[in-house]
Amino acid sequence: MSARQSRIAIFGATSDIAVAYARRSAAQGARLVLFARDAVALETVAADLKVRGATAVEIRHADFADLSTLPQVSRDAFAAFGGLDVALVAYGSLPDQTALNADPAALKAALDLNFVSPVLLANLLAAPFETARAGAIAVITSVAGDRGRQSNYAYGAAKGGCQTFLEGLRHRLFPAGVTVLDIRPGFVATKMTAHLPQGGPLWATPDQVAGDIVAALEKGRAVLYTPWFWWPIMTIVKSVPRALFHRTKL
Ligand SMILES: NC(=O)c1ccc[n+]([C@@H]2O[C@H](COP(=O)([O-])OP(=O)(O)OC[C@H]3O[C@@H](n4cnc5c(N)ncnc54)[C@H](OP(=O)(O)O)[C@@H]3O)[C@@H](O)[C@H]2O)c1
Repeated sequence: MSARQSRIAIFGATSDIAVAYARRSAAQGARLVLFARDAVALETVAADLKVRGATAVEIRHADFADLSTLPQVSRDAFAAFGGLDVALVAYGSLPDQTALNADPAALKAALDLNFVSPVLLANLLAAPFETARAGAIAVITSVAGDRGRQSNYAYGAAKGGCQTFLEGLRHRLFPAGVTVLDIRPGFVATKMTAHLPQGGPLWATPDQVAGDIVAALEKGRAVLYTPWFWWPIMTIVKSVPRALFHRTKL
């Protein structure tokens, strides 16, 4: 699917990965409707996309932790340009597992934001795409969803839950010709990972990931490991015997 004149909705539009994807789409003349909770940052992103060639940019306030608003968010997304070609679900948080272990309320909030909210939204978006018999739902999950590990199993479980949900949604939407893309980045240098020592061969830029997302959507791919080398890495990580895995500090 070409981004030229495409109607694209981005949920979590101030995410660094989402901004990079939006910039590439704007350069192709896309029409974008952007949802985020930070009104000032949203204005800045929208102005930047117009300068970069977007045909139209609409902005909407959304707090994706408020699950009750998601049906209206979905309706607003489709109403902005009279339909959608691509919906990108990009919001999320990377909580500290140790802190979550001591705080069940924070654990629930993390699972709500990283699992319940994105899958509810994806399912709400599914029906109009199904009716249109075209389009793509893309959700950023993570390689962390591929195997639970002691240092971030809440985040990993949320992302893994999203992966399984998307697999089923893809199965449902296959007869309608709607693409469901599960985007699994590895380490990406963004706000989310700013507290980590970014850099080195395993780290990607948001623009590298965005380029892979554009290519995967054009090909109608189902699952995207980005950069590509995370597919062999995770194949190995998943195959490590449990007795050995438990001796690591991963
Ligand atoms: N960076 C990585 O290494 C990496 C790896 C794998 C997967 N991912 C996934 O990639 C996606 C994008 O993350 P990123 O790396 O681009 O980091 P980011 O720049 O920190 O983006 C995360 C976005 O989520 C938004 N958000 C969080 N809670 C929200 C809420 N309640 N309502 C509305 N928006 C909310 C944030 O909004 P504010 O700007 O208002 O805080 C921010 O724009 C996430 O799903 C993340 O889990 C990232």
